[in-house]
Amino acid sequence: MKRLLRWVGIGLGALLGLLVIALAVIYALSQRTLNQRYPVPQTTIDVPGDAAAIAAGQRLATISGCYASCHGRRAEGAVLFDEPIIGRLVAPNLTASVRKYSDVELANIIRHGLRPDGRSVIVMPSEAFVFLRDADLGRIMAFLRSLPPSEGPGPSVALGPLARLGLATGQYKTAAQLIAETVPLPVAANPDALSGRYLAQTVCAHCHGTDLRGRTTPAYSSPNLQIVAAYSPETFARLMRTGVPLGGQKLGLMREEAQLNLALLTDAEIASLYSYLHTLPDAPPRQPT
Ligand code: HEC
Repeated sequence: MKRLLRWVGIGLGALLGLLVIALAVIYALSQRTLNQRYPVPQTTIDVPGDAAAIAAGQRLATISGCYASCHGRRAEGAVLFDEPIIGRLVAPNLTASVRKYSDVELANIIRHGLRPDGRSVIVMPSEAFVFLRDADLGRIMAFLRSLPPSEGPGPSVALGPLARLGLATGQYKTAAQLIAETVPLPVAANPDALSGRYLAQTVCAHCHGTDLRGRTTPAYSSPNLQIVAAYSPETFARLMRTGVPLGGQKLGLMREEAQLNLALLTDAEIASLYSYLHTLPDAPPRQPT
């Protein structure tokens, strides 16, 4: 009996040892991904200061989800995720960020997902913002800089074992990794679809993936936008403005996104998005990861 207990003890000890080693390996691999440094571009963005540009920036920031979305209703920051096993993630207070970073630094974080020291951000959809035109990025930054400081949840990112496992195995990617594997969207088939392609690339791609084929994250699952083939121009406009889909069912994140953000799209922008998405060809096959 004593001997049996001894063997059980040794077995449990060995298992515990293996678990500790596995966790240490996952931690080290994920940390290596997070600490990877990339060359930081020195793009100069012209940030206008006039009222018209700031107003245009507010509309663009809202449509593209910098404002009234992930970073909180007034850009004061918001808790995106808080689950011990996966992790805690707070989208930072942008009214504080704009006071901390220069224009070049801010532009690099938004458009290239790179902090001043060259490390990538995570979760921030820079793989979509990488396509933002200079003039639009300048207006968005002008608007963010015009906001008064406001109080929000303090910055805090604590990755749990599942998030680290995802990063270590490449299932979750940093913004820089996602940018590196972005493939260009199919070209617009006609001039009417040009601004729709730009919006799909810079806005819809946040949640539907840069190839618009939908994606599944711990927070939501979104469909392939070829689904728009089934919509008429009217039902698509209703979805964009009110979040009510073709079938009339109550959507989750998409409903909120439509009501708080996409509703600011103009009729012409919605028509162009429809023109682009209605006949969206198949994307090239996904690269194995
Ligand atoms: C903040 C994330 C987010 C953004 C940005 C976003 N979507 Fe979605 N979308 C979703 C999710 C998630 C769903 C799945 C339904 C749900 O959970 O709400 C969805 C569903 C849809 C659907 C399917 C509706 C149905 O028939 O069931 C369409 C079409 C769609 N989105 C179009 C768009 C277009 C076009 C854009 C850009 C202008 C866009 N979405 C931007 C998250 C987003």
